[in-house]
Parts: sequence; C-alpha cells; structure tokens
Amino acid sequence: MNFFLETCRAIGLLVYYLLESLVFLIVPKPKKNVSGEIVLITGAGSGIGRLLALKFARLGATVVLWDINQEGLKETSRLARENGAVRVHSYICDCSKRQDVYKVADQVKKEVGDVSILVNNAGIVTGKKFIDSPDSLVEKTMEVNIMAHFWTYKAFLPAMVASNHGHLVSVASSAGLTGVNGLSDYCASKFAAVGFAESVDFEMRDLGKTGVKTTIVCPYIINTGMFDGCGTKWPRLIPVLEPEYVAEKIMTAIRRDQEILLLPRSLYFLLALRNLVPVKVAVLFADYFGYLHIMDTFKGRAKKD
Ligand SMILES: NC(=O)c1ccc[n+]([C@@H]2O[C@H](COP(=O)([O-])OP(=O)(O)OC[C@H]3O[C@@H](n4cnc5c(N)ncnc54)[C@H](O)[C@@H]3O)[C@@H](O)[C@H]2O)c1
Repeated sequence: MNFFLETCRAIGLLVYYLLESLVFLIVPKPKKNVSGEIVLITGAGSGIGRLLALKFARLGATVVLWDINQEGLKETSRLARENGAVRVHSYICDCSKRQDVYKVADQVKKEVGDVSILVNNAGIVTGKKFIDSPDSLVEKTMEVNIMAHFWTYKAFLPAMVASNHGHLVSVASSAGLTGVNGLSDYCASKFAAVGFAESVDFEMRDLGKTGVKTTIVCPYIINTGMFDGCGTKWPRLIPVLEPEYVAEKIMTAIRRDQEILLLPRSLYFLLALRNLVPVKVAVLFADYFGYLHIMDTFKGRAKKD
C-alpha cells in the first residue's frame, strides 16, 4: 500500500475507533459471561486476590487458587464455597520459583483442565530506599512481581492460543507507570509487568488471536495492608482505595475486555499531564500531590503482623 492510501486508512480507522470509544462511554459494553471458565488467581490467599476469587466463584467460574500462605488459601476456599463456587481448587505454589510454577501448573492442567483466565496478582513490596534494600528482597520482588508472570504465561498461554480463547490479567500498579521515591525495586517490577503484558497483547493481535484478551490493572494505594502506614495528601483527588471497590472495578474491566484500568480515575489525567510537562513541573506536581514522600510513613504488612 502506498503512503497516501495507508495514511487515509489510518485516519479513517482513527476516527472510527475514537467514535467507538465515545459510544462505549455512553452505552457501556455488555459484560461477558465467565461461568464455566477456569480462572487461576495467584496470591489468592488475601487482599485483592481473595476478593476476585469470591467474585468469580459467585459468577459460576471454576476457581484455581495459588498462594504460599496455606491459612489464607484455606480461608479463601471456604469463603468461595460459601459464595456458591461449584469447583474450588487450591494449591500451595511459590510463584517466585520457576520450577514450582511449572510443577503446580502441570498438576492444575491434569486435575482441573486448561486455564482460560489467568490473573497474575501475587505481589510483594520491600518498602525501603534502594540503597538500604537487601539484595535478597530486591531479587524476590522481581521474582514474584514479574518473573512469575513469564512462567505462568509460558505454562498457560499455549492452550489459550490454540483455542483462541482466554484472558490474561496483570495486577500491576500505578507504580508501574511512574517512579516513586522509596519504591524503586517495586516500580521496576511493576513497569516490567506492564511492559510484558502489553507486549504479549501486541503479539496476540499480530497472530490474529483476538480471542485472547489482556487487562492490565494499575491502581494507586489499596487498603489491604500491603501498604499500611502510607496515606495520601489530597484524599479527594487521589483517595486510598477500598479493596472491594478495586475488585469490582477489575471484574468489570475483565468482563468488558478493557485493556488497561487505572484507579482512581484521576490518574488518567494526572499521568497524561505528567508526560506533557517539563520534568521540573512533573517533580513540582509530585511534591504537591505528596507523591515524593508517600513511602515515608510506610509500615507494610510484615511489621504489622
Ligand atoms: N495494596 C496496594 O496498595 C496495591 C496497590 C497497587 C497494586 N497492588 C498490587 O495488587 C496485588 C495484590 O495486592 P494486595 O494488596 O491484595 O496484597 P496482599 O498482600 O493482600 O496479597 C498478596 C498475596 O500474594 C501472596 N504472595 C506473596 N508472595 C507469593 C509467592 N512467592 N507465591 C505465591 N503467592 C505469593 C501473599 O501471600 C498474598 O496472599 C499485588 O500484585 C500488589 O502489588 C497493591
């Protein structure tokens, strides 16, 4: 195709896609049915993972729960059954270990079947300045928050591609879109999670596997305990999020095949603005919104427990 024709085609599609988005803003897409799907959730032993498991269970999906926390898993399984789950399967799996992921993935395929919705949700945070972060914690953060995504995709994506049906959900973070003082290893892992999920999504589109969807979730602080101690300077503009609200938004995004979800909504504007202004203005904004010192009061779950 020559330059003129290709430019006309691109402009035509651009207008069409913009209008399509506008229509979906006014008349939201219908939510897809997830009943009968096999949904695997990592880090399902607490927080957002547990809430997602309960919501999928209520909608008639088979839920496969992974965590290193046995007690947490037991409690999620119990609650999922109470919530009407017909099939709940829980597995102890240390997602930071590639061989563990592959071994448990094989077990799931034999005992439950091919996973059609994969939710990479397990996550940890060091919560120290980079210089003070022990090497072992930096490594662990990368292993849980991103390397595990590689291994779970390797284990479950081929079946999704073969059937051209599936959904890859990456619970990343707003710290995967902007650097944060005191969260360097976490940010590195979450930037990687965003880049990885987006890249594989492009691969799926290029392969014509449009039945394999991707949803990348980038929330600000959620009140689950992981970031205990951290607050927000202007709660009306950037509130600390309630777990139930976040889980419900994630479910809606998955069921509407939404590619990226930023929470709260103000982040769409603030992050777009940040990329348009000079760096000094971006730093001024970060200071004004309290973002520069957000980790100063961090306690985290480990210290609390
Ligand atoms: N809480 C927040 O403020 C916040 C904000 C943005 C993004 N997120 C992300 O959301 C996700 C869920 O976080 P949450 O707030 O529910 O935290 P959480 O601590 O309640 O849940 C994380 C779960 O991951 C599990 N886990 C940790 N290491 C594991 C491993 N090696 N193998 C298997 N499971 C492991 C934990 O046992 C826990 O059950 C995480 O990826 C987190 O980074 C959280």
